[in-house]
Amino acid sequence: MNQPGYLFGDSRVALERLELLARVYQESTSTFLVKVAGQAQFPLALDLGCGPGFTTRLIADTLQCERVIGLDSSATFIELARANSSRETSFVQHDVTVTPFPSGPANLIFVRFLLTHLSDPAAVAAKWVTQLEQGGLLLLEETEAIHPNHPVFAHYLRIVEAMLAEHSNQLYAGRFVAGLNLQSCSSQVISELRRLAVRNCDAARMFMLNLRQWKENEFVRANYPTSWILELERALQELSINESGAREIEWQIRQAAWLKL
Ligand SMILES: C[S@@+](CC[C@H](N)C(=O)[O-])C[C@H]1O[C@@H](n2cnc3c(N)ncnc32)[C@H](O)[C@@H]1O
Repeated sequence: MNQPGYLFGDSRVALERLELLARVYQESTSTFLVKVAGQAQFPLALDLGCGPGFTTRLIADTLQCERVIGLDSSATFIELARANSSRETSFVQHDVTVTPFPSGPANLIFVRFLLTHLSDPAAVAAKWVTQLEQGGLLLLEETEAIHPNHPVFAHYLRIVEAMLAEHSNQLYAGRFVAGLNLQSCSSQVISELRRLAVRNCDAARMFMLNLRQWKENEFVRANYPTSWILELERALQELSINESGAREIEWQIRQAAWLKL
């Protein structure tokens, strides 16, 4: 089963993209985890929209958790994640817009790059707080902006932004996280913007793998000539194999956390 509305799929190509993404964002995410939760002990941590489990393992390796459970609606990703599970980590197929979670209440909930795919993120984030024990932490990480300094990246981003908006999703969900108000049930611990300059070859590879997932999308076929998309794919491929250290694209990632009252 793939999840309704999730546009980037759970194929081998999607797996390869998430592997690369895990490497590119590992340091900024572990810095965030340590800053917010590095000193505490967590009997149960949850990783929502865990994909094949890269973030789940990063939480287990970085924080002091007795158990870390990854939840994802993709059966394929859950199976892949289980193949690499450890003593602390386990994985359950579940649509995280639906509460209560099968794991029971948690002491920490971590969510990276998922709100961008949900059509009512405010309601869903408020539900997540209900799945925390008192004193538990909710950590959200989403892209707030991407500044391309290369025309190929700029072209790609214009198409993806339009396609996600057509599906009531937003590419820059970090803007939503920056304004998210969960004050009725929690207090905000941190809200910071982290800047990350990414190598051209890594950004191009992530984009190219993504493009291969969405190029047959109905909105894309209706609004962009096939020749444009093929040319964009070719240009991304060319950038992806050039391992010069150039970094002509910068991500700005919103990292925010709340403490349940
Ligand atoms: C962009 S990936 C991010 C994976 C991981 N959080 C990371 O940062 O590497 C989004 C993940 O959310 C999952 N997903 C999308 N909608 C979901 C839902 N409603 N419930 C659970 N998982 C969902 C997808 O299957 C995918 O694995």
